[in-house]
Amino acid sequence: MLTKTSQVLSDGTKISDLIYPDTREVQMRVLSDPEIYQMEMEKIFGKTWVLLGHESEIPNVNDFMVRDIGGDSVIVTRDKNDDIHVSLNVCPHRGMRVALTDCGNAQIHKCIYHGWAFRPNGDFIGSPVKRECMHGNILPESELGLKKARSVLYGGLIFATWNIDGPSFDEFLGDAKWYYDILFLRSDKGMEVLGPPQRFIVNANWKTAGEQSAADGFHTLTLHRWLGEVGNYAKKGDAAAEESDEPDLTPEMYGVEISSPHGHALRCIDLARKIRRLTGLEPDDLSIQEKLNALPPAGMTKDMVEQLARNLSEDQLKVLTTMPPQVGGMFPNILFGFVYIPQPDGSVVGSMTLHTYIPRGPNKLEFCNWIFAEKDAPEELREKMLKQTIQLFGTSGMVEQDDSDTWPHMTLSAKGAMGKHMTLKYQAVYETGKPEGWPGPGIVNEGFTKDDTQWHWWLYWNELMSAE
Ligand code: FES
Ligand SMILES: [Fe+2]
Repeated sequence: MLTKTSQVLSDGTKISDLIYPDTREVQMRVLSDPEIYQMEMEKIFGKTWVLLGHESEIPNVNDFMVRDIGGDSVIVTRDKNDDIHVSLNVCPHRGMRVALTDCGNAQIHKCIYHGWAFRPNGDFIGSPVKRECMHGNILPESELGLKKARSVLYGGLIFATWNIDGPSFDEFLGDAKWYYDILFLRSDKGMEVLGPPQRFIVNANWKTAGEQSAADGFHTLTLHRWLGEVGNYAKKGDAAAEESDEPDLTPEMYGVEISSPHGHALRCIDLARKIRRLTGLEPDDLSIQEKLNALPPAGMTKDMVEQLARNLSEDQLKVLTTMPPQVGGMFPNILFGFVYIPQPDGSVVGSMTLHTYIPRGPNKLEFCNWIFAEKDAPEELREKMLKQTIQLFGTSGMVEQDDSDTWPHMTLSAKGAMGKHMTLKYQAVYETGKPEGWPGPGIVNEGFTKDDTQWHWWLYWNELMSAE
């Protein structure tokens, strides 16, 4: 547990005074203030575990890629023992950036300035003209390597932190891990990326995207209203749905939401309606195995579902076949989507995607979008998953063209002399709790999507920002 103190901004405002726990509001100043942004680089991105990519992006010995932990560039490498390392991309000599390309393969990382050289694991090798000992004899060579981050692999995803003695990755995920495991640890061989991630700049504060990713389901009804009217999710041809007078996407708003004291968030959406609509079967009459066969989890085929029982518990399979996590986030800046995309021929294609929103200044973020498939998914499915995901998410994705339109406006709003004193409100409160018989852990609520997950996101932001 972090110690709560009163971190104070230069004008005397305490960070904790920007959050109003009684009314569940957050002062909009937090979305634009450069001083708060600088504190976040230390207290959020310097302390939590941050997603850098997937090990399948660097499959060969000595492959590397350059990524970011908050404002710090890092080199992610695979060494000759197949171990993954994350090191600060700053030469310990005079601070030049060591790796200057986005990715590549290098047995030695040599700084172009004075030629200090480093192994893929960050260890110092030497400097040119050995007899002159230009790296000096004051510090031992063991202290002249690149600064190393603590890293972990989770389902092949690479996370790293500068908080060397802080909580383990599992502790950081806490109860939410039980649900993430359903997504990332479900198969025998695991996932891999379908090509390099899409990367693009949005002129917005990273938190506008970060807090939305903490499972804001409600905006789908208005901002993404078209989803129920055109394209794959339109109810065209579905007589029962067309006769209904409720907004097209309303049923998708019901389910179970998992909040986390560490700001993680998952929206578990009822699968019964999908099974009925897409297969014509009645889910209540089906066993877990029959449900898996009728509608395999997003990204799997019928042939692959037998793997699930080897990797997940009976309780996890129950959630997976009734109310699976489909969208949500991981604190501080991750969104995941494991969604079903109905096809015109009645089949379903899954989409598996992850985003990070890399802070690039108080008013700028870089959106990084990875698209995944299971390693043993058939080629035809992989192609479809890639195409369909590109149409929905990321740079060319219709859904996120909507989302990334709101983030700059919110950031601009927070700059006004009056606007910065307005508040973000998270006052739609669950009053339900767990559904009966719900087997999973954590802070669980059932019903129409509410603001609890996002409010917990801000509470953790406040806890980290207010800590010593
Ligand atoms: S700054 Fe890298 S070798 Fe001098
Ligand atoms: Fe959205």
